[in-house]
Amino acid sequence: MSQVNATITAFGKYLPEKILDNHDFEQMVDTSDEWITERTGIKERHITSEDEATSDLGTKAFENMQERFDVDPEEIDVIIVATVTPDMFFPNTAALIQENIGAKNAWGFDLSAACSGFVFALETARNFIESGNAEKVLLVGSETMSAITDYEDRNTCVLFGDAGTAMLLEPTETEYGLQDSIKKMDGKGKDYLYMKGGGSRHPASHETVDKKMHYLFQDGKPVFKYAITYMTKVGREILKRNELSNDDISFFIPHQANQRIIEACAKKLDLKEDQVVSIIDKYGNTTSATIPLGIIDTFDNGDLQKDDKLLLTSFGGGFTWGASLIKWGLKNE
Ligand code: ACO
Repeated sequence: MSQVNATITAFGKYLPEKILDNHDFEQMVDTSDEWITERTGIKERHITSEDEATSDLGTKAFENMQERFDVDPEEIDVIIVATVTPDMFFPNTAALIQENIGAKNAWGFDLSAACSGFVFALETARNFIESGNAEKVLLVGSETMSAITDYEDRNTCVLFGDAGTAMLLEPTETEYGLQDSIKKMDGKGKDYLYMKGGGSRHPASHETVDKKMHYLFQDGKPVFKYAITYMTKVGREILKRNELSNDDISFFIPHQANQRIIEACAKKLDLKEDQVVSIIDKYGNTTSATIPLGIIDTFDNGDLQKDDKLLLTSFGGGFTWGASLIKWGLKNE
């Protein structure tokens, strides 16, 4: 039997209409456009309206995919939603999106791996496809980070944004698609990046709300260092084991948490500026949506061409981190 690869055959995105720019934050907390721009590279981020949640962002991203590609929801076998901001604990966000888009033959689940959600979900989808257990997997990276952000905490509130993305993965017997991936996790990271309240350890109570335990907490400095170290390490490793040099990479699309992290990783991997995709200025950190947004925006700019090699790297809460290598080629190109 010939080798089957999983490849991206369709994609879409949705950004909520409302935008908060750095000057808006100057009115909310003790910060400045200058500090945010210099220390993070972020200029603005999209924020959901009151009646929008993560399943809505994912649904709208799927609708955007349908505007771009001919996708029949009834042909979808599995829906995987990478998110740390599900609409609710259960039912899963995948079920909510399934109903919204009419994917009546699909089963699915949510995957929680913070900013590595997309890389982990991509690998999960690949396993379904390469094993022959699914033909069409819908991978949604969707986050309402504004729902778990404390807008009185300047250390975190300026960093995050909301977004939905959708990608369809299918088998191909060509050389295109996902070539390789590295997935890593270290639970020691739990002390640096977490949302403490609302789960079974600290169920919601007046006390957990008073103590702001339902908001994301981050100890930024160590996370910053780990992010650079680990994303660089897996980036190097995946290039080496695929016998690729830095010059072979068309686009490096790292998780977008901080422009300084992106630049430091690119430097350590010896990549030139035109190989590096940075979209953090307009979206902030959208957790599981950053990498798919990077892919889609590179395509929409007209830069992404058939045969391009994409190096993706991620780092997030857990800690979780990883890398993926993609050879780009759409079905009908
Ligand atoms: N405006 C003004 N000053 C601020 C702000 C702000 N918005 N935020 C922090 N500061 C202050 C701090 O209070 C501190 O002041 P102090 O010296 O008086 O105490 C000072 O700036 C420096 O703080 P640092 O934490 O050293 O700032 P740093 O340059 O490290 O930037 C940041 C902070 C942006 C959070 C950075 O550490 C970072 O990007 N960390 C990694 C983020 C990341 O990769 N997250 C992983 C993915 S997220 C996920 O998985 C959900």
